[in-house]
Amino acid sequence: MSFAILRRGFLVCIAAMIAGLTAAHATGKQESEFGQLFNAPGVETTYYACIACHSEMIIAQQGLSRAHWAELLEWMVEEHGMPEIEEPDLTKILDYLSTHYNEDRPNFPKPNEAKP
Ligand code: HEC
Repeated sequence: MSFAILRRGFLVCIAAMIAGLTAAHATGKQESEFGQLFNAPGVETTYYACIACHSEMIIAQQGLSRAHWAELLEWMVEEHGMPEIEEPDLTKILDYLSTHYNEDRPNFPKPNEAKP
């Protein structure tokens, strides 16, 4: 009986440790000044080109190939009045998006990291 209680205490302890680690990880991600966007080269250019009209969350939730990102940016210019992005920024942004927000969605936001 007392053995069972000890065992349960041990499991609760492990669970608390895992929860603590997960929380620390989530906090680390949110410290970025670029909100949900993965912090890597090109993030700053992308962030400031894109958040004038909508949250960066709309970008983080997408997963597209480079060609599809290029098409989407054309659509953003034609249909939504985004000022055309000049080189070298365009390449920087497409590199950034197709590396971190490609079809495999490596940085898809997890529910507990989403902003309200
Ligand atoms: C001039 C305003 C403007 C700028 C700047 C802008 N967008 Fe948008 N974007 C919009 C509008 C308007 C929508 C449609 C929003 C909606 O459906 O709620 C949209 C929607 C989107 C969507 C969602 C598309 C879908 O299929 O639902 C993505 C992804 C996106 N934008 C990415 C970007 C990226 C990346 C940039 C920066 C390179 C950017 N946007 C810059 C206006 C803009």
